[in-house]
This record gives sequence, C-alpha cells and structure tokens, in this order.
Amino acid sequence: MTKDSQDWEQELPKLLTTRRLGRTFRHLQTCASTSDEAARLADQGCPDGTVVTADLQTAGRGRLGRDWHSPAGSNLYVSLVVRPLLPPMALPPLTLLTGVGVAETLRLTGIESRLKWPNDIMLPTAAGLRKTGGILTEMATANGRTKHVIVGVGINVLLTAFPPELADRATSLQLAADSPPDRLPLLARFLNAFEPLYDEFLLRGTPFVLEQWRRYAWLGQPCKVDKDGGPLQGHAVDVDETGALLVEDSAGVRHAVLSGEVVTPL
Ligand code: BTN
Repeated sequence: MTKDSQDWEQELPKLLTTRRLGRTFRHLQTCASTSDEAARLADQGCPDGTVVTADLQTAGRGRLGRDWHSPAGSNLYVSLVVRPLLPPMALPPLTLLTGVGVAETLRLTGIESRLKWPNDIMLPTAAGLRKTGGILTEMATANGRTKHVIVGVGINVLLTAFPPELADRATSLQLAADSPPDRLPLLARFLNAFEPLYDEFLLRGTPFVLEQWRRYAWLGQPCKVDKDGGPLQGHAVDVDETGALLVEDSAGVRHAVLSGEVVTPL
C-alpha cells in the first residue's frame, strides 16, 4: 500500500458522520475502473456501503459506452457498493438521487450546480453550463432479484486541461470555483450528504427522488434527443413519475424519454 492510499484510508473515517457509507473503504493508487474493483468486492461479499476510490483510472468508463477521462491526482473517482432490498425495477431513480447527493455536496462547498438529465453535474461558466461530473450506476441481479448496485461517481476537481473532444463541454471545480475543495473532504462530504438521501429513498421511493431532483434540475432548455430511433427536438420540461425526462415538442406534445443523451445547444 502506498503512503497516499494509507493517508486516505486513515483520514476518511475521521471526517465521516455516516453509519454505513465509507465505513469499509479502499483507496487505490491506480486501477482500471473503481467500479470494477467495487464489483469484485461486492461479489466477495463486502458490506453494504463499501467505497472504492482511486487516484488514477486507466479504463474509467462513462454512460453509453464512453470513456471517462481519469488522469492522476486531479479528480474524484468513487464507486459505492449498495445492497438495497428493492427489486431491480425500483432502482433506476438511484442515478438521479446520486446526482442530488453531488449537487448538495457542492452546495455545501459553496458551489451551485445544475443537474442535466439523467446524470450530468453542470456548472455555470462564462461559456454557459459545462459538465463537471457524471454518474454511472450498474446493477447485478440474480433470479430477478437485486444482488447489489455499484454507484460510480466521477467529479472533475482540479483538472484544468481537457482532451480536444471534451474541451467545449467539460469543466472542473478548479475552473469554476474561486477556491476548489480538497478531494478527501469533498469525498467525505458527499458520503455524509448521500447516506440520509439514500435512506429516505429506501423508505419513500421514486416520489422522494423526483422531489429532490427538481430542486437542482436544469430544465426549460432546448434539447435534441434520440427517441425510437429518430431525433426529437423540443424543450426539456420535467420528469414524469418514473424518472423519465419529458420533452415538449413545438406542437406542445410531451414525450417521455427513458434513455439516451440530451444534447443542448452550446
Ligand atoms: C458519465 O457521465 O458518463 C458517467 C461517468 C462516471 C465516471 C465514474 S468515475 C468512478 C467510476 N468508475 C468508472 O469507471 N466510472 C465511474
């Protein structure tokens, strides 16, 4: 174990107010993806709330099969193992809820963010809203039951240079805030904020998530999205009771969008 891993593993418990989240914690210097490491620990029977972080990911992944830019020393790469006693069909809102946890964490840090459906953490910049974080939830099931969910969270914290394909859409806390938070206290703050939200979700389900998500939602913007194989253009107006995005077209008809990417004009 390196000194840095030791420091993180020793220091995090001092900052936690949680009962479960982060009480089993591994910080790795490098790995392919923290979500792979978390899934491996989950398969070995690790406790609910286990957290894995890394300084560097060599194969960080995002939604829709994309890579997640994961250089060393500059960002938060976090994966949580949760074992909700809920059926798989009740779990998709967990992605929205995690976004709320990140937005709340940033607010407590003095940074106002907006959530772009379903999982993008957006910050205002001089050039408009830019993405500073994202969430990837991956579920393991057996015989129709939930075994565990890996909640992966990536937040650009100190990064100031992006690869060309991200340059016009990504940002970081360093670029957007006067004094960006240190990564370890930010991690603790996220776990402390997320645990009560998660517990309330277990009790109250999707209505609770939607109520919370709307507090931070970026809605009203023009957008384009692929629906049933064809492009749909309109305005993102709300989410429905399942968590699907409602896009209103120019005729005023509302379409529920369950997956895909919302493209907003830059
Ligand atoms: C997205 O917006 O596309 C989701 C990005 C999720 C990235 C995080 S970083 C920690 C965890 N490990 C991964 O490989 N991906 C997630």
